[in-house]
Amino acid sequence: MKVLIIYAHPRKDSFNQAILKRVEGVLAELQQDVIIRDLYAMNFDPVFRAEEQAKLQKNRTPATIKTEQKHISWADMLIIIHPIWWFSMPAILKGYIDKVLQAGFAYSYVNGKVIGLLQNKKLLLINTTGTPEKAMEQKGIKDVLQTTMDTGIYEFCGLKVEHIFLAGVSYIDEKAREAYLDQVESHLWQEFK
Ligand SMILES: Cc1cc2nc3c(=O)[nH]c(=O)nc-3n(C[C@H](O)[C@H](O)[C@H](O)COP(=O)(O)O)c2cc1C
Repeated sequence: MKVLIIYAHPRKDSFNQAILKRVEGVLAELQQDVIIRDLYAMNFDPVFRAEEQAKLQKNRTPATIKTEQKHISWADMLIIIHPIWWFSMPAILKGYIDKVLQAGFAYSYVNGKVIGLLQNKKLLLINTTGTPEKAMEQKGIKDVLQTTMDTGIYEFCGLKVEHIFLAGVSYIDEKAREAYLDQVESHLWQEFK
């Protein structure tokens, strides 16, 4: 399978980095074709500027956006890895989505009805939170995040979404972190078996 990993975390010592490394390792073992877009390492510019919007309106997709769209078109599966920041994603990833998931590429309107154009692709979304698992459940935070991200963005574009939350990672010990990494690994083995 062709797998595109979109990764948004600035620090090399983060738990998200450990997730990325584990995912990379498993996919290598499974001999999958992998491309990684590490948005901070790429210094991706998330600001959706007037010039870019003007070009898009004239159907002249800027080269930086076209490159990302080509990677998405190439992939059978996307894996997006990031921490939850302010009940959402890091701004660098939001900018990537604003720019890359364009009408005519990611979705389209036919007779007033939206059609997701990424329908033949799967998405595995992996998010870490500071909020512990129990509070995530009690306060309905997972539902909120699934509505804004899974429904509002990815399913809108036709992607078939699976969403893993690794909760409370700021406060758990090494053993619990290792268990989370094992959970991600088992998920991938199941997916690709
Ligand atoms: C700017 C910022 C905003 C954050 N907002 C939230 C939030 O809304 N909900 C939450 O549970 N954790 C929040 N956190 C905590 C992060 O989710 C947590 O630090 C991260 O998942 C830990 O993983 P890491 O070690 O890879 O950074 C926030 C952290 C930062 C830096």
